[in-house]
Amino acid sequence: MMHKINIYEDSIQGSKSLANLLVEEINFNINKKGYCTINLPTGNSPINLYKELSDLYDQKIINFKKVVLFNLDELYPITKKNKESYYYYLHHHLLEKTDFDKKNIYLLDGNVKEEKLDSFCNAYEKRIENLGGIDIQILGIGRNGHIGFNEPGSEINSITRKVKISNHSFKIISKTFNSSEETPREAITIGIKTILAASKIFLIAWGEKKSSIIKKAIEQKVNSNCPASYLRKHQNVEYILDVKSSSKLNLNRIRKKS
Ligand code: GLP
Repeated sequence: MMHKINIYEDSIQGSKSLANLLVEEINFNINKKGYCTINLPTGNSPINLYKELSDLYDQKIINFKKVVLFNLDELYPITKKNKESYYYYLHHHLLEKTDFDKKNIYLLDGNVKEEKLDSFCNAYEKRIENLGGIDIQILGIGRNGHIGFNEPGSEINSITRKVKISNHSFKIISKTFNSSEETPREAITIGIKTILAASKIFLIAWGEKKSSIIKKAIEQKVNSNCPASYLRKHQNVEYILDVKSSSKLNLNRIRKKS
């Protein structure tokens, strides 16, 4: 079992380091089988990471031509044009700045018709499976322990599906919309099972506000109340933290970096 906890001075240092780790992981997979599948999150936590990856692309240290992209979650319903959609976010922060091939981009569609949702979600799972699974899964973590939109109570065997957004998450998300009426109440998310099937998982968390949930996720019992704790069932997880988000952890167990 490999669970590494890497603690950096701040999110800038951590994101730089993670970007370099990703270059290695991506190239390793491309050398091995000709392509690499990656599943990416949105939110505030990965913004610096995407900036770093775009910079590494500009410096010709990496290219994304052979990277197949999936994403973790999407609000529902939402149009691609909506600036709060995760589709828009990923295009804005990463895809427009790099050379991902359009035919290798598979993002969850927040605009798919209700009656087609189940078949869309099943096809998403199948596509991942047919490509041999996710090589690299990056995750953020909600302050209530959610990963993707797998909110507290999510089952370990859950797969890609439509879910209700918890009141906790709704309050946070609605701040970015004009009004709560305009804020989607549901989301599409890949499942806990989908996440745990990835070969390698990186979980990012920055800042004091994430310190309590990071302690729960890493040190307390595996429990559906904190879906991120399911990651302890996985063989190969790396936690990318800063001094603040790791401040409540039992420090004896931790290998400090940088
Ligand atoms: C959001 C998303 C997650 C994200 C998490 C943390 O609601 N559902 O995919 O990882 O919350 O967001 P942030 O990085 O902004 O703290």
